[in-house]
Amino acid sequence: MDSKVSSLLFIAILCLLSSTSTAFNITKILAQYPEFASFNDLLAQSGLAQEINGRETITVLALDNGSIDGLSGRPVDIAKRILSAHVILDYYDQIKLSKLQKASTIVTTLFQASGIADDRQGFLNISKTAEGIKFGSAMKGAPLVASLVKSVYAQPYNISVLQVSEPIEAPGIENMAPPPPPAAVPKKAPAPAPAAKTPPSAPPTDKTPSKAPAPSKVEPSTPTESPTEGPVAADVPAASPLADAPLADETTAEAPAKSASSKMHVGGAVVVVGLLACMVGF
Ligand SMILES: *[C@@H]1O[C@H](CO)[C@@H](O)[C@H](O)[C@H]1NC(C)=O
Ligand SMILES: *[C@@H]1O[C@H](CO)[C@@H](O)[C@H](O)[C@H]1NC(C)=O
Ligand SMILES: *[C@@H]1O[C@H](CO)[C@@H](O)[C@H](O)[C@H]1NC(C)=O
Ligand SMILES: *[C@@H]1O[C@H](CO)[C@@H](O)[C@H](O)[C@H]1NC(C)=O
Repeated sequence: MDSKVSSLLFIAILCLLSSTSTAFNITKILAQYPEFASFNDLLAQSGLAQEINGRETITVLALDNGSIDGLSGRPVDIAKRILSAHVILDYYDQIKLSKLQKASTIVTTLFQASGIADDRQGFLNISKTAEGIKFGSAMKGAPLVASLVKSVYAQPYNISVLQVSEPIEAPGIENMAPPPPPAAVPKKAPAPAPAAKTPPSAPPTDKTPSKAPAPSKVEPSTPTESPTEGPVAADVPAASPLADAPLADETTAEAPAKSASSKMHVGGAVVVVGLLACMVGF
C-alpha cells in the first residue's frame, strides 16, 4: 500500500514537473498547420518561439504562407521585431474579441517587452469595425491594416493563435539601431571606461549593464530583472495593458513554488490532485 502511494506520488510529481515547465510549444502547435510553415520557421529562427513558450498567457497573430512573403526576405533581426509585435502579452480568443466593450483596445506586445520599442510601437490597436475585428499598430495615425481571418488554435487561457490577413508593421520599426553601427565602435574605443563607470554597488549581472547606457531612460537602480517593462510603464499612460505583463510573471514564479512545497507535506490527496493536473495537462 505504502509503495503504491509513493510510486503514484512519484508519477504525479514527474507529471507536474513536466507539464508546468512549459504550458505549450508554439512550434509544435503551428506544425499541425502547413499553411503557417513559413511563419513557424521564422519564429524558430528568430528565437521568438522560445520567448513565446516562456510565457503563460499569450496571443499569437499568425500569418500564412501567402501573406508573410514581405517578411521572410528581411534580415532576421528586423523580421523578429516585426513578428514580436504580433505577439500579444494577454489571452485573446475569438470569444473574448467579440465581447470587447470598447470600439478599440490597446494591447501590449512582446516587442514592448524587448525594451527597444519607441513611442507606441510595442502596442497594438484592436478595433471593432463594420468589417469585423481589425488590428493595427497603436502608433498615432497608423492604419488598421490587418483583419482577423480566423481562430487557429486556442488553449484557454494560456495561448491563442489567431490568423490575421497582413503583417502589422509599426512605423519606424525597422529604422531603429539599438546596437551601435560597427563603424562607430572603434572611434569610441575606450573599452575600460564603461566598466569603471559602473557603481561598485551594482550587482555583477550578466550582460545587462552593457545594455543599460544605451536607453538613457533606464534608472541605474532598476532591478536588472525587468529593465524592459519598468521604464516603459513610466513612459506610457495606457496603464491597464501594461499592468498585465508583470502580474503574469509574478504568478508564474509563485505557482510552481507553492505546489512544490505543499506536495511535500500532504499525502494521498495531493497524489490525486497531481494526477488530475497531469491528465488536464495532457
Ligand atoms: C497556464 O499554464 C500554466 C502552466 O502550465 C498553468 O499553471 C496555468 O494554470 C495555465 N492557465 C492559466 C489560465 O494561466
Ligand atoms: C517544441 O516542438 C518542436 C517540434 O515538435 C521540438 O523540436 C522542440 O524541441 C520543442 N520545444 C520544447 C521546448 O519542447
Ligand atoms: C508554406 O511554405 C513552406 C516553405 O516555406 C512549405 O514547406 C509549406 O509546404 C508551405 N505550405 C503551404 C500550405 O503552401
Ligand atoms: C485605434 O485605431 C482607430 C483607427 O485608426 C482609431 O480611430 C482609434 O482612435 C484607435 N484607438 C486608440 C485607443 O488609439
